Amino acid sequence: METLHLPVNGSESIYLPDDAAEFIIIQQDSEFMPSQTKNSIMRIHLAPELAYNGLTVEKAIANRRSRRGFTGETMTLTELAHLLHYSSGITDKRYGFRAAPSAGATYPIEVYAITNNIEGLAKGIYHYLISSHELELVREGDFSNEMSRAALQERMFKEANVIVALSAVFQRTQQRYRERAQRYICFEAGHIAQNTYLVATSLGLGACAIGAFHDNEFNRLLGLDGKNESALYIMAVGKI
Ligand SMILES: Cc1cc2nc3c(=O)[nH]c(=O)nc-3n(C[C@H](O)[C@H](O)[C@H](O)COP(=O)(O)O)c2cc1C
Repeated sequence: METLHLPVNGSESIYLPDDAAEFIIIQQDSEFMPSQTKNSIMRIHLAPELAYNGLTVEKAIANRRSRRGFTGETMTLTELAHLLHYSSGITDKRYGFRAAPSAGATYPIEVYAITNNIEGLAKGIYHYLISSHELELVREGDFSNEMSRAALQERMFKEANVIVALSAVFQRTQQRYRERAQRYICFEAGHIAQNTYLVATSLGLGACAIGAFHDNEFNRLLGLDGKNESALYIMAVGKI
C-alpha cells in the first residue's frame, strides 16, 4: 500500500493511506474503535434524516451567526436526528465514512447530546452512537444547572434545546499519527462544529460554539476520565 509521509519531530508518521478499504480493516482491529457503547441504560433509534430541501450551502454560510438566545419552543427528535446525522453521522455506508473529514478515518471524536427540550425525549445525557444512528442514554435527569455552572453560560444553557458536546478519544488518532494527532483532533472537532452550525442554520435553528468551560466539571458530568477521553468543544443549539 502506498502512503504519503509527513515528518514529525525528526521521525516519520504515516499521513494518508491511498486505499480506504484496506485502511478501514486496520481501523476495525483497533482497541479504540469509534463509537463504543457507554453501558447504556436505553437506546433510542433515530429517524432517518428529514426529507428537507434546506438552504444552499452558500446561504447557510451567509446566514450563520452565533445565537445565544432561544425561545423555549420544543424541538423535534427528527430535527435532532437530522442535526446529528449531517454533523457527524455516516454518509457513506459502504466504508463508514462520515459527514466530517477525519485524519486517516481514525474518527477520534465522540458526540454527546445533553437534552433539555426535545419532544418525546426525557431530559438527560445521551451518547450518539454514530455507527447505528442511535442515542444511548448515559444519565437521565435535568443537568441544565450543573451545565451552566460548568460552562459559565447560565441563560444559554437553560434555554437551549440541546447541548452538543464533542469529546475526543485521543488514542484512536495518536496511535497512528503520534505527536501530530493533537492538532488533527482539534481540527476534527472544528469540522463537526462547523457542520453543526450550518445544519442548524439550514433547519432554522440557532447555534453557538462554546469553548469556555471548566474541563473537569464537564468531564465529570459526561462521565469521562479527562485522560483517555476528554470534552473538547460544546455547542448550544435551540429554537430561535
Ligand atoms: C473556538 C471558539 C470558541 C468560542 N467560545 C465561545 C464561548 O465560550 N461563548 C460564547 O458565547 N461564544 C463563543 N464562541 C462564538 C464566538 O464568540 C463567535 O463565533 C464570534 O463572536 C463571531 O460571531 P459569529 O459566530 O456570529 O460569526 C466561540 C467561537 C469559537 C470559534
